[in-house]
Formats: sequence, C-alpha cells, structure tokens
Amino acid sequence: MSFSLPDQLHTPRMVLRAPRPSDAAAIFAAYTQDSDVARYMTWRPHRTLAETETYFAYCMQAWESGRSRPYILALQASVAVPIGMLEARMLPHAIDLGYVLARAHWGAGLMPEAVRALGDAALALAGCFRVQATCDVDNHASARTAEKAGLAREGRLERYIVHPNLDAEPRACFLYARCR
Ligand SMILES: CC(C)(COP(=O)(O)OP(=O)(O)OC[C@H]1O[C@@H](n2cnc3c(N)ncnc32)[C@H](O)[C@@H]1OP(=O)(O)O)[C@@H](O)C(=O)NCCC(=O)NCCS
Repeated sequence: MSFSLPDQLHTPRMVLRAPRPSDAAAIFAAYTQDSDVARYMTWRPHRTLAETETYFAYCMQAWESGRSRPYILALQASVAVPIGMLEARMLPHAIDLGYVLARAHWGAGLMPEAVRALGDAALALAGCFRVQATCDVDNHASARTAEKAGLAREGRLERYIVHPNLDAEPRACFLYARCR
C-alpha cells in the first residue's frame, strides 16, 4: 500500500515545508559549509554555493518525483529562513529519516520536536507502519534525537555506511525505529 506525506507540517515551534531554490544560499551560509555539522554526514562540507545549489536541485527533483520529502525546517516566526532539513525517504511501508540542523540552533530540542511530529503524521497514514533512522555509533546527538522523538534502538549495523569526514571505509551505525 502506498502513502503520501503532507506537503507541510506544523510543530509547536516550527514549520516543515518544501525546499525552494532561494533556500540554497541560506543553507550554505547556515550549515552546509560547516565541518562540525557535516562530521557524521555522508557528504563533505561544501566549499562553494554551487555545491549546495546542486544538492538543492537534487532535493527538489526528489520531492517532485515523490521519492522523498526533504522538508526544510523553519521557525514559525520566520518561515522563509531555513534552519535545517528533515528528509523522509519513502520505503514501501515505512519512511527512512535523515536530519541536520544549523549549529546556531543545536541544543534547543528542535530536531526531536520535528522528528516526533513527522513520525506522528506518517504513522497516522494507512500505508505507513514504520519510521526509521540510522546514525553513526559515535553520533550521540543524533542517537539522543531519535530517542527523544520516540524511536527505539533496534540494533547495530556493522560496516553499514561511509561517513567520509571520519573514514574512507564504511562504519557501524545504530538503527532506530518507531512502529505501529
Ligand atoms: C543531531 C542534531 C540534529 C540534534 O538536533 P538538536 O535540535 O540540537 O537536538 P537536541 O537539542 O534535542 O539535542 C540532542 C543532543 O545533542 C547534544 N547537544 C545538545 N546541544 C549541543 C551542542 N551545543 N553541541 C553539541 N551537541 C549538543 C546532546 O547530547 C543532546 O542530548 P540531551 O538532550 O540528552 O542532552 C544536531 O546536533 C545536528 O544537526 N547535528 C549535525 C548533523 C547530524 O549529525 N545529523 C544526524 C545524522 S544521522
């Protein structure tokens, strides 16, 4: 059974909305060039705005195709200003999440709030039974985000993914999920 996630979601403090071409410059300034933000991600810090624009073209194409919903996170007071992203990749009966937030907004519980809201919305849909996320075993902030959003650790996946800022070889990840 297939399902469609909403185009927009509201949390107590944020809006999750579709990416726009004009977000690329703001995201570049806010975090894609930040090596602390990129540390546990699958990409290297961007050196030029053009790299972020290329990534954004992929995001908008993925959204259009229905392959994933790469939501932009913005505070409700300034919906036009992106502070991070929460991508939901569509699986047959589930979604697989990836998330990133500008360093200036870390520590305020924003990402757990977004992940919980998206999980609530997804699991309310008839075809969606599972919300999952993986993170590097050393990425404690991401593991805590999953836990605070109601996902439970299901296991450890050895040699699962390359995090190029840490190692050229694939590293172990924790798998988290919330099901109904
Ligand atoms: C992971 C991330 C999205 C967490 O978002 P957040 O909104 O800051 O989440 P929270 O405020 O709930 O904090 C989660 C944990 O981050 C850590 N943390 C909080 N503030 C921090 C700071 N200023 N610096 C570093 N880590 C911090 C704490 O371990 C916290 O857990 P706790 O609440 O039990 O103390 C954010 O740290 C981030 O974007 N990191 C870089 C990208 C990334 O690694 N994404 C995940 C890939 S799997």
